[in-house]
Amino acid sequence: MVMAFNVYESPALKFELVAKCNTTRARASNLTLPHGPVQLPLFMPVATQASLKGLTYEQLEQTSCRLCLNNTYHLGLKPGQETLDAVGGAHKLQGWDHNILTDSGGFQMVSLLELATITEEGVRFLSPHDGSPMLLTPEHSMSLQNSIGSDIMMQLDDVLVTTSPDAARMRLAMERSVRWLDRCIAAHKKPETQNLFCIIQGGLDLEMRKECCEEMVKRDTPGIAIGGLSGGEAKDDFCRVVETCTALLPDLKPRYVMGIGFPEDLVVSVALGADMFDCVWPTRTARFGAAVTRHGVLNMRNARFAHDFGPVETGCGCNCCLSVEKGGMAVTRAFVHHNSAKETVGAHLLTIHNVYYQLNLMRQIRESIISQRFPDFIKEFFGNLYEDKK
Ligand code: GUN
Ligand code: ZN
Repeated sequence: MVMAFNVYESPALKFELVAKCNTTRARASNLTLPHGPVQLPLFMPVATQASLKGLTYEQLEQTSCRLCLNNTYHLGLKPGQETLDAVGGAHKLQGWDHNILTDSGGFQMVSLLELATITEEGVRFLSPHDGSPMLLTPEHSMSLQNSIGSDIMMQLDDVLVTTSPDAARMRLAMERSVRWLDRCIAAHKKPETQNLFCIIQGGLDLEMRKECCEEMVKRDTPGIAIGGLSGGEAKDDFCRVVETCTALLPDLKPRYVMGIGFPEDLVVSVALGADMFDCVWPTRTARFGAAVTRHGVLNMRNARFAHDFGPVETGCGCNCCLSVEKGGMAVTRAFVHHNSAKETVGAHLLTIHNVYYQLNLMRQIRESIISQRFPDFIKEFFGNLYEDKK
């Protein structure tokens, strides 16, 4: 085995630290997964049902995405484990030979279904398809994720959706998540080809977060996630939790903050030492006619775009903006405006633009870390964001 001060290797993952910012905790690194390398920091778009709503795989590939998310909960219900086993996993099902990360299912059930109840055994819920009672245990989640064949699998965790649950329930959730990690590790059938990540819980209580970090780190999973943070908590609470956790995590493993996707949150989280992020927001907001740009979010349904013949964002390299810049004829702001209410093509174009925007933002962050310009990048980024919208 090669031992190097900046490389960590486990059977299905290699993490190589490339650069560290001198003034913040930001890092740039290379992560090699079973379906190829990705560069961190990274944003991962969410393809819930094994498709990024509206995009073909060629279009998704052209945004430069090489790692996207699927959800165990959705794929386990439909097409279901039997179909996944028959086809040989989600990569084959989708025709996607790049990386896939799957969330374990518990979070989706608790956040989507009011009737989910959690016990030590697992998460009980009624099937949204036929109302029949179902139980998702750590073992079942692992079995489904093994059938999906995801490059990164997430442990089943006990997630609380409320921002201020009582301390006793939070402690139970945190400790149970550690016990469920042990059950996930024991049930994981393919550690040679699939990576299992743990998820740190503990709400906004920093002592509980520290305790959870210590327990999770001991279990030595190839990557580590920070969960329980997508609930609209105050920014300073959010920052304190990320900061507290990253300080306790090993340098040479990827750190993933779950459910985060606003550009300003990505920039701040990288500065606090996080490497990977996901969120439905950029793709969901595209379907509502919104373009994410360096000057903030533009509502393309606004009448002011009806006679605007420039690209969605000047200087953007996505397939939606580039054709105008190159003198192409199709994709003007006016076209997107015209199609963003009823025709689906507007949503598809904005999805392409928004995914590209997020990935390109992370690329710029990475380059600035490597060249020791990240603090300047932060100033420029927030300067552009709070300038008057163009
Ligand atoms: N997505 C956003 N937050 C979470 C979390 O805490 N746990 C899981 N499993 N998924 C998430
Ligand atoms: Zn664009």
